[in-house]
Amino acid sequence: MEGMTRRGRFITFEGLDGCGKSTQVKRLATTLMHAGYEVVTAREPGTTAIGERVRAIILDSRTKGMAPMTEVALMFSARAQLVAEVVRPAVKAGKIVLCDRHTDSTEAYQGGGRQLGSDLVRRVHKLILGDQQPDLTLLLLSDAASVERARRRNVRNAHAGDENRFELEQAEFFARVRRAYLAIAKREPKRVAKIDAGRSIPDVHEAIVKAVHERLHMKI
Ligand code: TYD
Repeated sequence: MEGMTRRGRFITFEGLDGCGKSTQVKRLATTLMHAGYEVVTAREPGTTAIGERVRAIILDSRTKGMAPMTEVALMFSARAQLVAEVVRPAVKAGKIVLCDRHTDSTEAYQGGGRQLGSDLVRRVHKLILGDQQPDLTLLLLSDAASVERARRRNVRNAHAGDENRFELEQAEFFARVRRAYLAIAKREPKRVAKIDAGRSIPDVHEAIVKAVHERLHMKI
C-alpha cells in the first residue's frame, strides 16, 4: 500500500442477532487483504484477554439478574480495553480494523432494548472514548421474519452451551433494538450505511464492498 504513514480505518458492523454480521466481517477481511490492506478483525464484547473475560460474565445466561446499568458498564469496560489495546494502535499503524459491534450496539440494546435511552449511552461513550467514532458503520438490516427465525435457532441451540441472554429476549425487545438502530442511521447518515441483509451472502458482500469503496474511497 502507499506508505507506512497512511492512517488506517475503523469499520464497524452492526445489526440484530442472526443478521449474518460475522460471515460478512470474514468476507470483507478476505477481500481487503487480497487488495493489499492489512486487516485486523475484532468482536465486541471481547477480543482482548480482558474483554473475553468480561464477555463471559455478560453473556452467561446464569447472570440473568444483571441490572441494565451493569450491562452498560461491562460493555464499555470491554470496549475501553479493545480500543486501547487493538483499535487505536492498529489504525495508527495504517491497518483496517473490522469490528463486529461497537457503541451503536450499546445504544440499540441497552439504550433501546433495555430502555435506558440513547442519551445515557452517548454520554458514557464520550466520557470513556471521547469523540472517537468509526469511520464507517455497516448496519445490516433484514426483515422481522428472518430475525425471528435466527432467534428461534439460537434458542434451540442454547442448551448446547451457546448461552446468550440476549438471544432469549422476546420480540418486543428486538423491535426496540431495531428502532434504535434505525434512529442512529437517520441521525448519522454519513457514518452509517444501511445494508439490506435479506439477500444472498455474495449479494450482501457486494453491497458492503460498494459502501466501503464509495464512502471511504478505498481501492477494492
Ligand atoms: P454474540 O454471540 O456476539 O451475538 P452476535 O453474533 O449477534 O453479535 O453476542 C453479543 C450479544 O451482546 C448480542 O446479543 C448483542 C449484545 N450486545 C449488547 O447488548 N450491547 C453491546 O454493547 C454489545 C457490544 C453487544
